[in-house]
Amino acid sequence: MIVDPLTPVLSETWDAERSWTLETYTDAGGYRGLEKALTMAPDDVIAAVKDSGLRGRGGAGFPTGMKWGFIPQDDEGAGAKPHYLVVNADESEPGTCKDIPLMMAAPHTLVEGVIISSYAIRASTAFIYVRGEVLHVLRRLQRAVQEAYLAGHLGADIHGSGYSLDVIVHAGAGAYICGEETALLDSLEGRRGQPRLRPPFPAVAGLYASPTVINNVESIASVPMILERGPDWFSAMGTEKSKGFTLYSLSGHVERPGQYEAPLGITLRQLLDLAGGVRAGHRLKFWTPGGSSTPILTDEHLDVPLDYEGISAAGSMLGTKALQIFDETTSVVRTTLRWVEFYKHESCGKCTPCREGSWWMVQVLRRLEAGQGTAEDIDLLLDMSANMAGRSFCALADGTSACVDSAIEYFRDEFVAGMTTPAWELFPYAASALHAPADTVGASR
Ligand SMILES: Cc1cc2nc3c(=O)[nH]c(=O)nc-3n(C[C@H](O)[C@H](O)[C@H](O)COP(=O)(O)O)c2cc1C
Ligand code: SF4
Repeated sequence: MIVDPLTPVLSETWDAERSWTLETYTDAGGYRGLEKALTMAPDDVIAAVKDSGLRGRGGAGFPTGMKWGFIPQDDEGAGAKPHYLVVNADESEPGTCKDIPLMMAAPHTLVEGVIISSYAIRASTAFIYVRGEVLHVLRRLQRAVQEAYLAGHLGADIHGSGYSLDVIVHAGAGAYICGEETALLDSLEGRRGQPRLRPPFPAVAGLYASPTVINNVESIASVPMILERGPDWFSAMGTEKSKGFTLYSLSGHVERPGQYEAPLGITLRQLLDLAGGVRAGHRLKFWTPGGSSTPILTDEHLDVPLDYEGISAAGSMLGTKALQIFDETTSVVRTTLRWVEFYKHESCGKCTPCREGSWWMVQVLRRLEAGQGTAEDIDLLLDMSANMAGRSFCALADGTSACVDSAIEYFRDEFVAGMTTPAWELFPYAASALHAPADTVGASR
């Protein structure tokens, strides 16, 4: 018997008629987690999330309940600072595409999660910071928040519990760095979005210098089901240290790209089986486990468990579980150049190694792409990378180094070839365009 490994929980109602409305969400059992949470003490809600083993889905995998536990819980009375919940909905990493579909298809999952999470950390104001370009998502979220107010799930004295909460949906101006949590806070406060020095950590001095929890959309949207079905139900899925289910986003040279919700620990081979495999007539060359800032892997890694430990043992990071699939028609030099161009553009400029290093990397990669590289270029790239990773203010520089280092590790030959032959001759770009016939020939730039 073949057991379907998918576990649609967050995505359960995405195909329902008008899935984004309060009516559809409530008919499917929505807001029952909130009802239960409001009968519990806030500390017990935190304990339930801790017990579930939920780890942050924004990239680093930090345990969510533990993060909430860092908020000082006994600071009531005159002079006490307010607590804030801030949802990171800035999703901008190349390849990462899970939070936006979630907010489009089922925004109430997030709204309910925000209410429960805010109750747990004793916050009376919460913010959802959405990337500015996605106007359609903003509108959908704003409507969902309005519906929640009208239904009494938000506002004063929610369901007669005595607990009150206001939710503000805030549009960023569209900068990848504003997804870094402290840059996000600066942006939310009206300043230019650049990372802050830590400590103090946001749990102590975050938004408006007050205790703040910042969590990813998927992390917060996972909370209602944990409350409704219990921490044991959640922790029964996944692996020893990576519990529960998650959204894996398959994109690129794959037959059926999209969101696949499955327990942590599933493998890329299993996911590709579900997604119809690599583009017909082609084979897997390389892939990212969690967006372009996570070191690339190859077809040697098809059976690595897609959990935090498995991917780390294979030399990469699970990140946002954005599985970008590239077949044998793809030039690694060109792909790396495109990613580094993105990071160069998005570098906030605060620190020299990242600001200057990413610019110089682009110059070197451009000449390698054009077949005009020099014999020193590979070492030069590795040297620049070593001067950026761990020597810059935030992880944007580490991510830039990671994609360059891993590309050279697995496909050094292509960088050597870039000293004599243009990448568009070795890998005609039309052949890697999606839906291009398998026998496409001819170069194009
Ligand atoms: C350059 C950069 C961009 C980031 N972008 C996002 C983002 O768009 N969404 C997100 O949730 N986390 C992003 N992060 C991670 C956040 O800093 C933070 O770890 C996360 O929001 C915490 O939420 P979690 O514990 O629920 O994962 C980014 C980090 C860096 C360094
Ligand atoms: S590493 Fe780059 S993005 Fe991060 S603070 Fe420094 S310059 Fe800005």
